[in-house]
Parts: sequence; structure tokens; C-alpha cells
Amino acid sequence: MISNEEVVRLIDVGKKYYLSGDVYVDALIDINMTIKAGEVVIVMGPSGSGKTTLMNIIGTLDRPTSGRVIIDGVDVTDKDENYLSRFRLERLGFVFQQYNLISQLTALENVMLPMLLTGRYTREEAMEKARLLLDLVGIPEVVNKRPNQLSGGQQQRVAIARALANDPSLVIMDEPTGSIDLASSYLILDLVRLLNRYLGVTFVIATHNMEVASIGGRIIYLRGGRIIEESDLRRIKEEFGRLRVDPVVVAKSYLRVLDIEERRLRRLGLDVTDVERRRNSINDFLGKHES
Ligand SMILES: Nc1ncnc2c1ncn2[C@@H]1O[C@H](COP(=O)(O)OP(=O)(O)OP(=O)(O)O)[C@@H](O)[C@H]1O
Ligand SMILES: [Mg+2]
Repeated sequence: MISNEEVVRLIDVGKKYYLSGDVYVDALIDINMTIKAGEVVIVMGPSGSGKTTLMNIIGTLDRPTSGRVIIDGVDVTDKDENYLSRFRLERLGFVFQQYNLISQLTALENVMLPMLLTGRYTREEAMEKARLLLDLVGIPEVVNKRPNQLSGGQQQRVAIARALANDPSLVIMDEPTGSIDLASSYLILDLVRLLNRYLGVTFVIATHNMEVASIGGRIIYLRGGRIIEESDLRRIKEEFGRLRVDPVVVAKSYLRVLDIEERRLRRLGLDVTDVERRRNSINDFLGKHES
């Protein structure tokens, strides 16, 4: 299933949220990105940087205010809601921080529902496939339980099984481990990895979490609604990497600390060679750096 097919292409995508009159928030600015079939792409960035907005636009749950959105080869930018709800059902899978399971339905029924809604599965087929998907995500024992009888990690795995129900071209996850404990998070991450590696499922995952990010083949960083380019990332690293204290001042203070230390050691009749060694190394440093 690994191919060079593009599952996502965003061209100059912008999203403004209008608050009142002409007051707006620039949630996304000039976003250009692609995701190829078989990738796991991570979207990182601080709170408010536009991750959820981006996930919603890729998932056709929200529209951009400028630019084009092409998902699975279809330009969905101007499609009507009827078209889009069918499109989402057949081609996309969603896993959000809140599991969004239907509380009146059992785990099995939650996974069956997307298949039944397409009208392309008989009840028996949907049931058989849903059972297999719950096996696949490792929770065959919960088939007949309702969401409120399941742990957060179990609910999230049901949500993953449901997301896979119609063999989506892309699974979109927004903070998929945001509401669950660490052990369950690792299970979810293992699942994502296995589904990607062995079944070729394509993922785009928005997260704050470094552990989640570590499973991605590629990370896109957002900041203030923009994608941070490699070169900008380097500049930010340099900026943060730069010393904000004067090393000469620190070295001189440390010499005074060593004086006290030496006095103390002499008083106790102990060896001061280590103090002298450190003093020499600091004096060497000062010799090189003091003008
Ligand atoms: N419905 C909305 N109406 C107005 N402004 C919104 C709306 N949704 C998001 N925003 C604003 O758009 C920006 C991006 O929000 P978004 O939810 O995409 O960020 P995020 O990166 O997902 O943050 P977090 O990590 O907290 O989930 C923020 O400034 C937010 O306040
Ligand atoms: Mg968010």
C-alpha cells in the first residue's frame, strides 16, 4: 500500500475566525503541505498554534477562508455538506481527545455504525468486521460493553477500531493520548505504529506530546498559525541556544566560590589539588576570554 499517492495537499490555506465585524483571529496562515500514502505525519506546536484548526480542515469538518484543500485526490474546498459527510464517512477516520463514542451503543455497535451508514455492508458483514477490528486493537472482551463501562484507554481503542471501519485513506488524530494514562498511551502508539507499518494506514496526528511525536516519520511545527520552515527552526534553536549570561562573570564568581572552598579544605587539613586544578582551568578560560 506504500505509494507516492498524495492523500493530502494544502495550497496556500488560510483560516480566519471572525469574532465580530472585522475583528478576526488568524488561526492558519499560508499553509502549504502534503501527506503521502503510508506516512505518519505529526503536527506539533504550542497551544493556540492552529493544530486543531488544521486537523479540522484536513478532515473537511471546517473550511479554509483562503486556499485549496485536496484530500485523497478530491478538491473538497467548495463541496457541499452533503458531499462532505459522505466523503468523511467513506474515506476518513477520526480519533479525537474525547473519544466521541455513542453512549447508547455497545463497543461493537459503535464500530459497526460507519459501515452500516454507507449502505454497503449487511448487518452480518458489519458485525463480523467490527469484531475483527476490536480483536485487532486488542479488546475483544469489550464488544458488548457500553462506553461508560470502559476505561479511557479502552474507549480510545474502540475509537481507533471505528476509525478503521471503512478502510480510510487517512486517519486524523487530534491529541489522541490527551485524556488517557501513560500505559494506555503507549498501547495506542504501538497500535498506530503497527497499523502503519503492516497495514499501510496513513496518519496525521496533532499532539503536544514528545512521545507521540517520536513515532512520526515527519514532524510539522506550527507557531502562530504558520508552518515553521527548517531554516526558521534552526534560527529559533540558535536564539534559544545562545547564552544569555556572561560566561566571564560566571567564571569570576566561581573563582570566589573556590576561594571559600580552599579555605575550608585547608582548615580541615585536606587535599586542595582538586580546587587548584579547577582554579587553573577557570583562569585559562578567563585568559582566553578577557580582553
Ligand atoms: N471557533 C473558534 N472561534 C474563534 N477563534 C477560534 C476558534 N477555534 C480556534 N480559534 C482560535 O484559533 C487559534 C488556533 O486554535 P486551535 O484550536 O487550532 O489551536 P491548537 O493548536 O489546537 O491549540 P491546543 O494545543 O490548545 O489544542 C487560537 O488562537 C484559537 O483561539
Ligand atoms: Mg487543539
